[in-house]
Amino acid sequence: MKHFLELASCSTGELHALLESAMRLKADWQAGGNEPVLRGKTLGMIFQKPSLRTRVSFEMAMKHLGGGAIMLGPQEIGLGVRESIPDVARVLSSYVDGIMARVYDHADVVELAAHSSVPVINGLSDGYHPCQALGDMLTIQEHFGALDGLRLAFVGDGNNVAASVALACAHFGVSFSIATPEGYEMQRPVREQAFGIAGRNGSVLEMCTRPQLAVAEADVVYTDTWVSMGQEAEAAERASEFDAYQVNEELLSAAKPKAIVMHCLPAHRGDEITDAVMDGPQSRIFEQAENRLHAQKAILARLLK
Ligand code: CP
Ligand code: NVA
Repeated sequence: MKHFLELASCSTGELHALLESAMRLKADWQAGGNEPVLRGKTLGMIFQKPSLRTRVSFEMAMKHLGGGAIMLGPQEIGLGVRESIPDVARVLSSYVDGIMARVYDHADVVELAAHSSVPVINGLSDGYHPCQALGDMLTIQEHFGALDGLRLAFVGDGNNVAASVALACAHFGVSFSIATPEGYEMQRPVREQAFGIAGRNGSVLEMCTRPQLAVAEADVVYTDTWVSMGQEAEAAERASEFDAYQVNEELLSAAKPKAIVMHCLPAHRGDEITDAVMDGPQSRIFEQAENRLHAQKAILARLLK
């Protein structure tokens, strides 16, 4: 594994190893600190979009492992605008030991990786959010003690987060059911990849348009914003299309009584999720945000060491 761009091209074994490493690194951190396995190493962080969790958790992950990070915001390098992506990749990889990039078009992070001599990590593209999904598997594993055989229901938009969570579930033997409005389903290539991987690992992938159907028998109920970064012009149309896809107490009562609730954040309280659910006893949303730090340490230690 040279880069970490999306989960379909990772092997199930590699992802299990990353999850185990994340659990060890978290335990070590809580017991007093991590070994400085990335001493002297630097991560370049390219952001075409805003971020709280990804930006801070990657920087802190590098710090905890003995290294450092450089933030390159949208005004700074003008990826593909001021300078071509291959030229940025060649120059940046002669300075730093790894690159994390948050981009609009997934093809841009793929192009960056193709021309980079150092590992490239996708910190969210319009297509995927693999670091999020690995952190999410850590949260579910911690809560239930195991992943295999669980059932996760995703309610909302079938885009980047849904795609990566579906692929992660497929690798870890978690059945995945998704309810989206018509026209907002997961893209066909992702569905085919997730079906294939899930079939090998004994889990199922189901798609429907009815939230109540998707959450039936679910151990985990997961949602994301209705309006992703870059889709702001569609906000009004999306608000009406997704109106029936809110994760609220009534919908949650259709899942298993001990189901947990997840959201990648940032949340739009009162839209895709209510305050009562987000702050309620079944929410693991803030543990989930914390686990980005530990999952990303595992990715960084694996790729940059
Ligand atoms: N979940 C997530 O990636 O959050 P940020 O957009 O704040 O990085
Ligand atoms: N789907 C959201 C996720 C944010 C972490 C977006 O792309 O904006």
